[in-house]
Amino acid sequence: MPSLQKPDNETSISSKILEVRGLHKKFGEVEVLKNINVDLDDGDFLVLVGPSGCGKSTLLSCIAGLTETTSGVISIGGDDVTTLDPAQRDIAMVFQSYALFPNMTVAENIGFGLEVRRVPLVERKPLVEKAAALLKIEDLLDRKPAHLSGGQRQRVAMGRALVRDPKLFLFDEPLSNLDAKLRVTMRTEIKRLHKRLGASIIYVTHDQIEAMTLATKIVVMEDGVVQQTGTPREIYNNPVNMFVAGFMGAPSMNLMQADIVVKNDVAHITIERENDQPLVLQDDAPPSAVLDRQNGSLVLGIRPESMTDSTAPDKQVRIVDCLLDVVEPAGSDTYAVIKMGGIEAIARLHGEASVKQGERTGIGFNMSRLSYFDPDTGLRL
Ligand SMILES: Nc1ncnc2c1ncn2[C@@H]1O[C@H](COP(=O)(O)OP(=O)(O)OP(=O)(O)O)[C@@H](O)[C@H]1O
Ligand SMILES: [Mg+2]
Repeated sequence: MPSLQKPDNETSISSKILEVRGLHKKFGEVEVLKNINVDLDDGDFLVLVGPSGCGKSTLLSCIAGLTETTSGVISIGGDDVTTLDPAQRDIAMVFQSYALFPNMTVAENIGFGLEVRRVPLVERKPLVEKAAALLKIEDLLDRKPAHLSGGQRQRVAMGRALVRDPKLFLFDEPLSNLDAKLRVTMRTEIKRLHKRLGASIIYVTHDQIEAMTLATKIVVMEDGVVQQTGTPREIYNNPVNMFVAGFMGAPSMNLMQADIVVKNDVAHITIERENDQPLVLQDDAPPSAVLDRQNGSLVLGIRPESMTDSTAPDKQVRIVDCLLDVVEPAGSDTYAVIKMGGIEAIARLHGEASVKQGERTGIGFNMSRLSYFDPDTGLRL
């Protein structure tokens, strides 16, 4: 009988809930997944991110067994499931475009998967009620989907997955149809749910904040290739290449062409600015890969929050005179756009910063927070 509790012995079979090894998927001649390797430990919340069309839904579909793989191995709980039917994989999936049965009540919708598996009604009922209580929709069990709000419908779709207590949950942008406020509420509920159930989850989202807040592990994909796997902090602080640096974070990391000359282990950085004096910075402790190069052009990366109007004295921070091209107040922060070498760099200033568009002001560059990239390969130095 399915239950919302995981049996204790389940973790001892294999500590890996999921292993994807060398997975390729071709649709005709087009290869949309290229040598994908993904691991999931018991209780992991893996968030899969990447631009539209990079292969996220296809990967979930291969893991669920709805799409046949071209080559590679998928194992779940230590068992090779590559050629098994979806029903044999012990997975529950909430799709990008979830659809509820309009003629069924909430309770019938949630219990449908159990009914299909011939779980008798007396056993189904308490499981449906338990899932509904977790999602705080226990008062809605007799309603039809047409009489629910978007957020409530979303929770019913989640309930259909939760009622089953599978080895692995796959969520494909489950909050994409909700308004901003509901998304935030649901995000917190999902996090709480994960904590309570200790479930193993793969979750696809376009939302940066969702990715950072929910994930124990993030996988960044581009064009069918995994670019980086790591904790949210690793991905944010140490992106392996310019793609990941530019993709994660909103607003994203500023990436600027810079000329660097190394003298006595100090990097002297020059960045050209449009209609302005070049910006000159000095990094006293650059990474050894920068020291090895001695000089030449590099791409410098700095996050908006590492370019501030902070007046607190800090020896890591160099104050540079900048012309503020555009000023965008955003409540708790003010974003200032500065033109540099044909690109616009965004600085995140204090919400109460008294700055005006077209004015000059001192912007503090936190030199301990710089990233350097090879302009040819895009790789982090
Ligand atoms: N059945 C199919 N036949 C042919 N090509 C397909 C098929 N399904 C997906 N594709 C292609 O595979 C690529 C990956 O699609 P996929 O739906 O996995 O992207 P995604 O990362 O989920 O994008 P989104 O963020 O827009 O949902 C796309 O180029 C898509 O056009
Ligand atoms: Mg998709």
